[in-house]
Amino acid sequence: MSKIALITGANRGLGRNTALSIARHGGDVIVAYRGNAAQAGEVVAEIEALGRKAVALQLDVSEMASFPAFADTLRDSLRKIWGRDSFDHLVNNAGHGEFVPIGETTEAQFDGLFDVHVKGVFFLAQALLPLIADGGRIVNFSTGLTRFSSPGFAAYAAAKGAVETLTRYMAQEFGPRGIAVNAVAPGAIETDFGGGIVRDNPDLNAKFAGLTALGRVGLPDDIGPMVASLLSDDNRWVTAQRIEVSGGQAI
Ligand SMILES: NC(=O)c1ccc[n+]([C@@H]2O[C@H](COP(=O)([O-])OP(=O)(O)OC[C@H]3O[C@@H](n4cnc5c(N)ncnc54)[C@H](OP(=O)(O)O)[C@@H]3O)[C@@H](O)[C@H]2O)c1
Repeated sequence: MSKIALITGANRGLGRNTALSIARHGGDVIVAYRGNAAQAGEVVAEIEALGRKAVALQLDVSEMASFPAFADTLRDSLRKIWGRDSFDHLVNNAGHGEFVPIGETTEAQFDGLFDVHVKGVFFLAQALLPLIADGGRIVNFSTGLTRFSSPGFAAYAAAKGAVETLTRYMAQEFGPRGIAVNAVAPGAIETDFGGGIVRDNPDLNAKFAGLTALGRVGLPDDIGPMVASLLSDDNRWVTAQRIEVSGGQAI
């Protein structure tokens, strides 16, 4: 039986790449998207073209009050499309960055980061846990910036640090149901993230590339296939880990 993965923020960037990589590995995908239904529909069409099943469901991970209704919608889709009451893999990918020094960070920016990257991850896992099959997996996206520091990312990195702690606690509490939970920490990757700062700012791109053992910044294709392989049965004994996927940035 094919595994079903739900990926937040799967309409573009690393979420989209992960969704397509999972489909190429033989998995089905629930493409959760915040607002861009057209992009999400394109991802669904690409997954279907690969011979896998997919559905797009709207979800803003900062809207905690919407999670119970989202769980109901998800349950209906699982029954209708897969004839199941559960799914297998939750990938908490959705998120945004703020590139701003500590002295200029507003409370709204700080709260926005913690809502999306910490509270959203915590309460989405809580709301969806009854729907995750025993033996399932959770992947929480973190960042290389929790291990090394780069000026301007303090609030963002602090939120991701909280997610790494949360990952270990989830692994412990969900372990009795056979659910493995890991954090994947990409290094600098060329996406729209942070206004496309890694991709579009040549100075920052060169700086990060120069700090990276493999000599360049990352591309989405450096991340999605890794997550798909982490979710394969070969990696079933890996849990409570922070796995950095950075090409050896700042080692
Ligand atoms: N790129 C990097 O260098 C890098 C490095 C380390 C970690 N990461 C992490 O990797 C993950 C994906 O980043 P990315 O590079 O793919 O960024 P991206 O290209 O900017 O894409 C972000 C995705 O997250 C979605 N999203 C943002 N806020 C959301 C919300 N409140 N509810 C639902 N969806 C939301 C966006 O949806 P919309 O299209 O609606 O905006 C979009 O689909 C993030 O957790 C990020 O922190 C990225």
